[in-house]
Amino acid sequence: MRNFIAASLIAADFWNLENEFNQLKQTNIEWIHYDIMDGHYVPNITVGSCELDSLINKTSIPIDIHFMVSNPDEIVPIFVEKYKTTTIVNITVHLETCNDIRKLSRLVRKSGIGFGLAVHPKTPITKIYNLLDLIDLALIMTVKPGFAGQKIIESCIKKVSALRNYAEKNNITIPIQVDGGIKVSNVSKLTNAGANIIVSGTGLFGTKDYKKTVQTMINTFRSET
Ligand code: DX5
Ligand code: ZN
Repeated sequence: MRNFIAASLIAADFWNLENEFNQLKQTNIEWIHYDIMDGHYVPNITVGSCELDSLINKTSIPIDIHFMVSNPDEIVPIFVEKYKTTTIVNITVHLETCNDIRKLSRLVRKSGIGFGLAVHPKTPITKIYNLLDLIDLALIMTVKPGFAGQKIIESCIKKVSALRNYAEKNNITIPIQVDGGIKVSNVSKLTNAGANIIVSGTGLFGTKDYKKTVQTMINTFRSET
C-alpha cells in the first residue's frame, strides 16, 4: 500500500487561506483533511458546510472529511447528498458515535465516496476488527479529538501495529490513517508501525517551508522501504 500525506486544515492560518493554499499547491500532499467538530462530541467547534463550499470551489485537491460529531447518522446523509459529485474523496465518522455503521457505510459508499471509521485513543482497537469489510480506511487517533497542536500519545502507535498485524494475518487490505501530533520527527514511527495516510496539521502549517516539510516526511517513509 502506498503512503501519503493529508494536510489538516484546522491548523492553517484562516486569515490567510489563499496564501496557505498557494503554498500547499507546491507540495506533494494528496488530501486535505477537513475536521468537522460539533462542540458536543468534542469540546470545540470548527468548520461546516459553508467553508466547505468555498474550499471545493477553490481547490482541486481531494478532501477527506473527519466528522467529530455526536450524530453522524443524521448529518452524514445530508452531506453525502450535497457533496456526492464533488472532490470529497472520503468521509470518516467515529466508531464511538455512530449508531448504525452498516447503514451509513452503505449510503456513503453507494455515492462513490470512501467511508472511514475513527477510533478514539481510549477505544480498544479490537472494536474495529469485525467492521473492516465496511470501511475504506481505519483512522487511529493519536491525540484526544478536539484540537490541533497537541502532543502525540505514543501508546496509540501500538494500535497501528496491532491492526496492521491483524489485517495481514487475515489477508485484509486496509489503509490505516493516523491523526494527531504528527510531524517530521515522529512520522517514521507511524509508517514503520503500518500507517499509510499521515494527517499532519501543526507539523506542517507550523513550519516555514511546506514543500520542504512534506518532502522530508515523504523521504522518511520512502527510505524505510
Ligand atoms: C484533532 C483533529 C486533527 C488535528 C491534527 O481532533 O482531528 O486532524 O487537526 O492537527 P495536529 O497535526 O496539529 O495534531
Ligand atoms: Zn482529524
